[in-house]
Amino acid sequence: MNKKESSSAKQCLQDMERRRFLGGLALSAGAGVIASLGVSGLSHATQSPVSNRVLVTTPTGNIGHQVLENILSSGFPIRVIDRDPSRIPSSIKGQIEVVQGSHSDPAVVDEAFKDTDTVFWLCPPDPQAESVMAAYVNFTRPACEAIIRHGVRRVVSISALGRGTPQARNAGHVTASLAMDDLIANTGVHFRALTMSSFMNNIARQATSISKQGVFFLPMDGDRKFPTVASRDIASVASGLLLDRTWSGRSEVPVLGPEDLSYNDMAKIMSDVLGKPVRYQQVSLDTFKAGFVQRGMSEAMAQATSDMYQAKNEGLDNAVQRTPDNTTPTTFRQWCEEELRPVILQH
Ligand SMILES: NC(=O)c1ccc[n+]([C@@H]2O[C@H](COP(=O)([O-])OP(=O)(O)OC[C@H]3O[C@@H](n4cnc5c(N)ncnc54)[C@H](OP(=O)(O)O)[C@@H]3O)[C@@H](O)[C@H]2O)c1
Repeated sequence: MNKKESSSAKQCLQDMERRRFLGGLALSAGAGVIASLGVSGLSHATQSPVSNRVLVTTPTGNIGHQVLENILSSGFPIRVIDRDPSRIPSSIKGQIEVVQGSHSDPAVVDEAFKDTDTVFWLCPPDPQAESVMAAYVNFTRPACEAIIRHGVRRVVSISALGRGTPQARNAGHVTASLAMDDLIANTGVHFRALTMSSFMNNIARQATSISKQGVFFLPMDGDRKFPTVASRDIASVASGLLLDRTWSGRSEVPVLGPEDLSYNDMAKIMSDVLGKPVRYQQVSLDTFKAGFVQRGMSEAMAQATSDMYQAKNEGLDNAVQRTPDNTTPTTFRQWCEEELRPVILQH
């Protein structure tokens, strides 16, 4: 690293340090769960990393592209895995190494994890999966084997709130995300699982309905408050961890946004920011699920989405106590002003 890169990396680390939110719950995977997942632990600590390279999955995704932008000027060598590298801006492509393919492919992760110190792991949504466990756990298994084979030292993953709650046993995507974390943790790698409730960004998927009818729909009680977070805050926490080589062990890092809000609270803020009435309408789980199936989602994934919302409605996201460390800065009002309003104006 030259002097300029080293000073830029130092500045970036200092910025990241201010936004670090370590101190989550220890992962507590049961041996039975681990055995059923099919990757056995390793003598990981005996292997030494040969590089300080950071590997980023989903570099064009919602969180992944922000992670990549955050760490680009860190001075660390960066490699990404992408199915379609033509979607990576050329200004960025010159500064990184690209391995083409899916990070579910054993050959792709084998190539990408060589000489890699730290991995940003995000399991992409798969609306056509035959089961939610296949979508998360089977997708991640080749990566776990490559982590072991190449002695990757640290993994930062995108996961979900709910561990330890009774609702997490049948919470669709969340149950599978937690099983994925257990699989990664069992490789022996140093591991941080970022755990969130629903992202603010999900609301923008209903931009047409918000714009044309002034309404958005979900199967949640409109008055249930939960910790909603902007993807930029998640990317910021992930980036800090990817560049910080001092942490070790395995734990969750809850990323809770600045406050708990209900969908009725959000409707009021949206009305204010957009300058027109917006209301929230609760729909039944059956209607919600049928909508996904109609739009081409597999029966299993539609059921998993419905199960997740049922669990959320019963308190899945309300078990972690808010602290200054797990509270992040972007308010829902700020997100509406900076991200939702421009989208709505295009409709
Ligand atoms: N939304 C929420 O409220 C919420 C809450 C908690 C946790 N999560 C978790 O957050 C993650 C989603 O994050 P996100 O919003 O950043 O995702 P995203 O924007 O949907 O990004 C997914 C990326 O993955 C790539 N991709 C899709 N299928 C792929 C495949 N088969 N192989 C390789 N790459 C593939 C896509 O890029 P290409 O098509 O260009 O390849 C896309 O850019 C999920 O794991 C979800 O469980 C979400």
